Amino acid sequence: MVVRRLSTGIREFDGIIEGGIPQGFFVAVTGEPGTGKTIFCLHFIDEGLKRGDLGIYVTTEESMGSIVNQASQFGMKFKDGLEKGRVIIVDAFMGSGEWSLRDLTVNNLVDTIIEAKRKMGYGNARIVIDSLSAFWLDKPAMARRYSYYVKRVLSKWGFTVVATSQYAITTADAFGWGVEHIADGIIRFRRIVRGGKLRRYIIVEKMRQTSHSLIMYEIGIVDGRGLVILGPAWQRREDYALPKEARDRIMNSRSRVEGEIP
Ligand SMILES: Nc1ncnc2c1ncn2[C@@H]1O[C@H](COP(=O)(O)OP(=O)(O)OP(=O)(O)O)[C@@H](O)[C@H]1O
Ligand SMILES: [Mg+2]
Repeated sequence: MVVRRLSTGIREFDGIIEGGIPQGFFVAVTGEPGTGKTIFCLHFIDEGLKRGDLGIYVTTEESMGSIVNQASQFGMKFKDGLEKGRVIIVDAFMGSGEWSLRDLTVNNLVDTIIEAKRKMGYGNARIVIDSLSAFWLDKPAMARRYSYYVKRVLSKWGFTVVATSQYAITTADAFGWGVEHIADGIIRFRRIVRGGKLRRYIIVEKMRQTSHSLIMYEIGIVDGRGLVILGPAWQRREDYALPKEARDRIMNSRSRVEGEIP
């Protein structure tokens, strides 16, 4: 059977996963704070809108206003999508707008998503849950059971789901992984400070039914544009270039040696 793939809206990223996320998949997007998880999700919904898909965005750590503002900084027309009823933002943080969650339970979450889809009517739906880990903040041992439940119910509806989770090595050690094992794909964001500069990376750690790249890529977040792939982390010149003084010393000693050859 041919796998139908959904473009993520980041062209170079689609290229490393054979064209996109298989329809109906449940993909975990994980990583440290500020690494680009939310922006990745915005691209995924925005691309859906451009292609005629419906979008449901559940936000637990930012308000609806913050999501709409962030999207507009990258030229994404969330406001337009909201007005046309093509996108619904479930504000589980401030409870603003028409859609919110009474409390952060997984039952509430799936019921609200299904209700939102009913309201929007016919069409393929892309779902973002940002973040899913917010639903087990005070009971991390439930992570796996909760994420399994969410995946099972939403899969029956044929939704393609991207769920973010905060990477917490401490809880991963103590309770095992949450969403990662049950997910069909894992997109992992990372960050380091090198040469006095914050660098961000993306790597696909898992994508079922896909011959994906195993390389870690450096990414950039660009105003007016969003997330861009800069290139394989190991090919970045800064990663292998020697400091200028060291290069000069090598060149000098080489020319000295050559000068001594009779
Ligand atoms: N308009 C913009 N232009 C350039 N960079 C931006 C812009 N808006 C946001 N950013 C960058 O994106 C970062 C936020 O990325 P994002 O919200 O996707 O992180 P996250 O992984 O979702 O973090 P968290 O786990 O805290 O929610 C900001 O810290 C900033 O560095
Ligand atoms: Mg975020």
